[in-house]
Amino acid sequence: MEDQETGSMKVTPWEVEGIIDYERLIKEFGMQSFAELLDKVPEPNHLMRRGIIFGHRDYGRIINAIVNKSPWAVMSGFMPSGMPHFGHKMTMDEIVWHQQMGGMAFVAIADMEAHAVRGLPWEKTKEIGLMYVRSIAALGLKPENAIIYFQSASNAVKDLAFELATEVNWSELKAIYGFTSETQLAKMFTTSIQAADILHPQLREFGGPKPVVIPVGADQDPHIRLTRDLAARISVFAFEPIEGGMRIRSRKNSEYLRELRKLKFEKNVYEEHIDVFGDRKDIENEVRQIELEVGGYAFIPPSSTYHRFTTGLTGGKMSSSRPESYISLLDEPEVAGKKIRKAITGGRGSAEEQRRLGGEPEKCSVFELYTIHLLLDDRELEELRDECRGGKLLCGHCKKRAAELAGKFLKELKENMQTVELDEYEIAMK
Ligand code: TRP
Ligand code: SF4
Repeated sequence: MEDQETGSMKVTPWEVEGIIDYERLIKEFGMQSFAELLDKVPEPNHLMRRGIIFGHRDYGRIINAIVNKSPWAVMSGFMPSGMPHFGHKMTMDEIVWHQQMGGMAFVAIADMEAHAVRGLPWEKTKEIGLMYVRSIAALGLKPENAIIYFQSASNAVKDLAFELATEVNWSELKAIYGFTSETQLAKMFTTSIQAADILHPQLREFGGPKPVVIPVGADQDPHIRLTRDLAARISVFAFEPIEGGMRIRSRKNSEYLRELRKLKFEKNVYEEHIDVFGDRKDIENEVRQIELEVGGYAFIPPSSTYHRFTTGLTGGKMSSSRPESYISLLDEPEVAGKKIRKAITGGRGSAEEQRRLGGEPEKCSVFELYTIHLLLDDRELEELRDECRGGKLLCGHCKKRAAELAGKFLKELKENMQTVELDEYEIAMK
């Protein structure tokens, strides 16, 4: 679980640099490719269909839960350090989509992280955090089956974070996050807080163990890996598939193993483990039930999806210190239009050249806007791509259309943000 710092690509939760090779990222991080299970997803959304969501871990669990209509959840978080922009909108859209597919939605406003990592005062994190809450509500999150919380206001999260911290030591933190002797304890502790964000939907008070998917940018994968590991470490029983069933060990007191004798499956009992025979899923469910009875967490390792990093409108990455590099959800339509007009494209040096050679949509930040946000209809996007490549469409015209679509979207969003009734939502805030 080293920092991925090979070649020109650097991807950590606090730093993304270089040109990202997604296939390599999948391999080095040990993710799975999303394309391989795309046709199993019922009604995949445009981000999935277009490969913007390129990787996942254990998403099969979520597909099964959707199909079988068994309980599951979606959870993600936002650090309220800068104002919400189109990058955040992508994650918000993912949460909303999963809620519409039947998942319970958990939304964290990571005010503890913003305070510890970015040094923002609490009044600021609250003010900015509420803009994120308004944004996701305006983007379609329904109040039913949704829990929105500021980290600082969730005792469930803070208590679980402390408990999870019993399983993590310094050398592990250093290896995963590259912390040094200068790193503040509070910043280190936010890694436990984030792990607790991810696992707390499975606590008894939130309905108990269930599959939970975390839609995030690939930079958050170190958190996901650690949390998946912690889910196993903190739970009592460990599973290992064997021929015809499961081998089960107790990570805690081996006394607990005795409890498993009451399982109504064929089994062989050994000193250190029990081999249980039958359907693996049924066995896992029964064992988790027993774990809950003896007071354990019985966490299911969380699933995740990974979306691509979006390029800034000015080329390079989006940066909150350069407002012209992204469209803010609070931008006036004219301001967004101006940013789009100045954006870097995959166009050629002259109109004549572009007609002759065609544009390069795969290198174009405006085409990226169309792909992720502005054109949800696949046929329309294909048409635009073909016209660009064929030299029939020139950038000026194309940008004008993007500016119109973005302007219309922002105008409607603004109205929605002003009219959403936050009272209808369950929001934990201090
Ligand atoms: N660290 C994330 C970010 O910087 C925000 C975050 C906090 C988060 N808790 C989370 C993301 C839980 C996913 C799940 O954007
Ligand atoms: Fe980008 Fe549109 Fe120009 Fe093609 S025509 S390069 S998609 S701005």
